[in-house]
Amino acid sequence: MWLSNIGFTRVDSFKAFELSKFKGLKTGIRITKLKSENMKTLKLSESVYQFHIYIAPINLSFNTYLIVDKETFLIQTGDRMQTQMLLPVIKEVLGEQPLDYVFISHFESDECGGYKILEQQYPNLRPLCSEVTARQLRGFGISDNAIIQSPDSTFQSNNLDFKFIPYPVQMHNWMGLILFDKTHSILFSSDVYLQRGEVKDNMVISDLQSQLEALNNDPFLSSELKIGLQKSFSELPISIIAPGHGACIKCL
Ligand SMILES: [Fe+2]
Ligand SMILES: [Fe+2]
Repeated sequence: MWLSNIGFTRVDSFKAFELSKFKGLKTGIRITKLKSENMKTLKLSESVYQFHIYIAPINLSFNTYLIVDKETFLIQTGDRMQTQMLLPVIKEVLGEQPLDYVFISHFESDECGGYKILEQQYPNLRPLCSEVTARQLRGFGISDNAIIQSPDSTFQSNNLDFKFIPYPVQMHNWMGLILFDKTHSILFSSDVYLQRGEVKDNMVISDLQSQLEALNNDPFLSSELKIGLQKSFSELPISIIAPGHGACIKCL
C-alpha cells in the first residue's frame, strides 16, 4: 500500500509484451555485417596508415590510423565490430611488432569501443587520453592503465613526437584532446572536420586558411571552441588533416 502512496508500481503489475505482435511495428533493425574486404587502406606517409570503412545505414564513414615506427601507435579503435574487422589488418601491417599505444580523443564507442579486443592481443597496450577520459575508461572497466595527457601537453617516445590540443566534447563538454603528430605534420582531428556520406577520394586537396574558415560552419562546435581551435591549428605546420570521419585533407 505504501508503495502506491509514493508513486511506485509493484513489480508484479508489469505486463510482458511481445513487440512483434504489434501491427505495423517495425521489429528488428538491420545491423550491417562488417567485412574486412570493405575496409580501404591508404598510406598517408611511409609509416602512417589510414583504415577506412563506410557504414551505409548511418551514412557515415569511420577512420582509424596507425603509426608504425620503433613504437606503434593507433589513433582511435573503432567500435567493437570495427576493431574485430581491423585486427587482422593491423596484425598484417605490424607482423611481430606489438601495438604500444592507442590515442583516445574522447570517450565514445568509435573512439575506444574496441579497446579490450586490442588489449587481449597486445597486453602491454596503453591508452593516451585526457584525465576525464581516463576516469571514464576506469569507471567502465576498460582500462586503469592510461597515460594522462593534459591540454597543450606533449608526448615524446622514441620517434613519436606529439602535441595535444584541448577539445571539449559532448555530452557535458568533457575535456577531450586532438592530436598533432609533429613528425609527420598530421592533425588527427577526431570529430572536427567530420564529413558525412560515402567518400569517393580518401584524400582531398585544400589549404589551411580555407580549412580554418570552414570551422565556422561546423554545427557541433561552440563559437568559443571554434575560436580556440582556429588559434591552435593556425600555429601548427599542418600538412594533412586526418579526421575520424570522411576524407583526409591535404593542406597545400
Ligand atoms: Fe565523437
Ligand atoms: Fe567520432
